[in-house]
Amino acid sequence: MTTLATSDFQRIASIARDRWGLCLTEKKMPLVSNRLSSFLRHSRFDSTQAYLDYLEEDAGEEDMLVFFDLLSTNVTSFFRDRNHFDYLEREFYTPLARGNITLPGKRIRIWSAACSTGQEPYTLAMHAIESLPDLANWDFKILGTDLSNFAVEQAKAGTYAADKMDGIPQEMLRTYFTRGTGANKDQYTVTRQLRSLVTIARLNLMDPWPFKGHFDVIFCRNVMIYFDADTRRKLVLRFHQLLRPGGILAIGSAETLAGLNVPFTAAQASVYLKH
Ligand SMILES: C[S@@+](CC[C@H](N)C(=O)[O-])C[C@H]1O[C@@H](n2cnc3c(N)ncnc32)[C@H](O)[C@@H]1O
Repeated sequence: MTTLATSDFQRIASIARDRWGLCLTEKKMPLVSNRLSSFLRHSRFDSTQAYLDYLEEDAGEEDMLVFFDLLSTNVTSFFRDRNHFDYLEREFYTPLARGNITLPGKRIRIWSAACSTGQEPYTLAMHAIESLPDLANWDFKILGTDLSNFAVEQAKAGTYAADKMDGIPQEMLRTYFTRGTGANKDQYTVTRQLRSLVTIARLNLMDPWPFKGHFDVIFCRNVMIYFDADTRRKLVLRFHQLLRPGGILAIGSAETLAGLNVPFTAAQASVYLKH
């Protein structure tokens, strides 16, 4: 393992902040150093400085994204933070089913922002099918986006190793996934039904967003933790613009909007309503 010089780490941190809003503290140095040295060993660059010069001056989008993957964390799982799904069932789907909430055109839009490898949007899809009995009569769509090329490809493929399926009840596993055969017997792929509800795309949360209509629900979980307070605040205000009045914003259980001075009301831990 090569040790990263503080000046190189600062150059890395500055690229990460300017391009992706990531706030890399020195605690991240060992991780970044490790990942960078294994990347450089198999690259055409003969030093960290040469690679950083390239990134700062010449690199195109694809090469920048390879670098992004060296810095970011994709940890996720099916049914992560179950209380968010319980909230949606109780306060969104049940009132919708009973007609206590009405939505024009029976249109429901959900955004899983920073969805990593797709477990979050596919969980939202399974959960919606289970929670809203006449889902087929609704104009229902989930969008999952992430910046990482690696994550987006995985999410689009919708194929997961058996050890990633732990959070899914057996009955749902049988209903919403197809198990591979032969050499692929430990792989599970989302069914066509699930896939039809979910669109996956690549999006940098720091860039302008191409959306036209409003969202009813936004999940932006376990990514704002990597942003500084100013970046978080700006992002949350953009979510606010995009949500319909009363729309739901779920953030990671270790995250909070407290202190950001944004027009949301806390509904329960890490769940907020637009006002
Ligand atoms: C820890 S994962 C969270 C996944 C999922 N939301 C969850 O809670 O399980 C964080 C994700 O944020 C993505 N990410 C980080 N910065 C981003 C940015 N500026 N724009 C879009 N995605 C970003 C990373 O690629 C990574 O997949």
